[in-house]
Amino acid sequence: MKHTTSTGITFHEYGQGDKTILFIHGFIFDSSLWQRQIPALTGDYKIIVPDLRGFGESTDCDGMITMESYVDDLFEILKETGVKKPVLAGLSMGGYAALRTAERSPEKFSGLILFDTRAAADSDEAKLKRATGVRILKQGGLKTYATALMDSVFSQGFKEKEPDEFQGFIDRASEIRPEGAIGALLAMMGRTNTTSFLESTTLPVLAICGEFDTLTPPTEMLQMMSNVKNGEFHIVPDAGHAAPFENFTECNKLLTNFLRKISF
Ligand code: MLT
Repeated sequence: MKHTTSTGITFHEYGQGDKTILFIHGFIFDSSLWQRQIPALTGDYKIIVPDLRGFGESTDCDGMITMESYVDDLFEILKETGVKKPVLAGLSMGGYAALRTAERSPEKFSGLILFDTRAAADSDEAKLKRATGVRILKQGGLKTYATALMDSVFSQGFKEKEPDEFQGFIDRASEIRPEGAIGALLAMMGRTNTTSFLESTTLPVLAICGEFDTLTPPTEMLQMMSNVKNGEFHIVPDAGHAAPFENFTECNKLLTNFLRKISF
C-alpha cells in the first residue's frame, strides 16, 4: 500500500506484523531498488520502502537537502506509521542515512543492515568530485551523469545478463528532478563520520558488499566492520555496488538468516 507523509515523503508498505524492516535506497535510485527483497520477506515481516526526498514519487524537493533532513524524513515515517524498533537497511547513500538515523536514536532500532556503503565522511577528493557533479547537473547533464554513474554501479556480468533492468535504472535516474540529485550530492558531501557510532553500538549489524563493487569495495567494508562489536560481514559473488538487486538470491539468504536472530 502506498502512503505519503504530511511532510511529502512517499513510501510503500508491504506485509504485516510487529517486525519491521525499513529499506533506504542509494543514489540515484528510488524504492524500486528493493523490489527483489520484498517477495522474500513479506511473509514474515512488515517492509517499508520510502523514496527519499527528491527521488521517485517524493518530488517535493527544493534541492536544499542535508543528511539530517533525510533522517528527519525517516523519523517522520516511523512516527506516522507507529512502527516500533524496526531494523534499518540501507544501500550506499541509504547506508549513510541508516547509520546517522541509528546514531541519533539507537534505542529506537533493533538492528542495522548495510549494503555497499561506508561510515567515513567524504575525503576532500570525494567532495571535489561531488562539486563537479553538481556543476554537471546544474548545466542540464542529468542523463549523461546518470548513465555514467549507473555504468560504474553495476557489475559487467549484470549489465550483460540483464540489459533491460540496467537500462530501466538509467531511465528512472534520468527522469528525476535535478534538484533531487543535486540535493543528495550536497547532503552526502556534508554528512558526518559515523565510524565511532558503528564501532561503539551494540546493535546487531549485517554488512554486505558485492565482490565487484568498485565504489565501496570489499576491502574498505571489511576494514569498516573490523571493530564492530556485534557485526558480520559478507562478500556476495557476481555483484557490483547494487548487490541486493544484482545477486538477490545470495543477499536474501543472508538477510533472512540475520533477521531470524534479531529480537525485535
Ligand atoms: C550511492 O550509491 O548511493 C552512491 O554511490 C553513494 C556515494 O556517492 O557516496
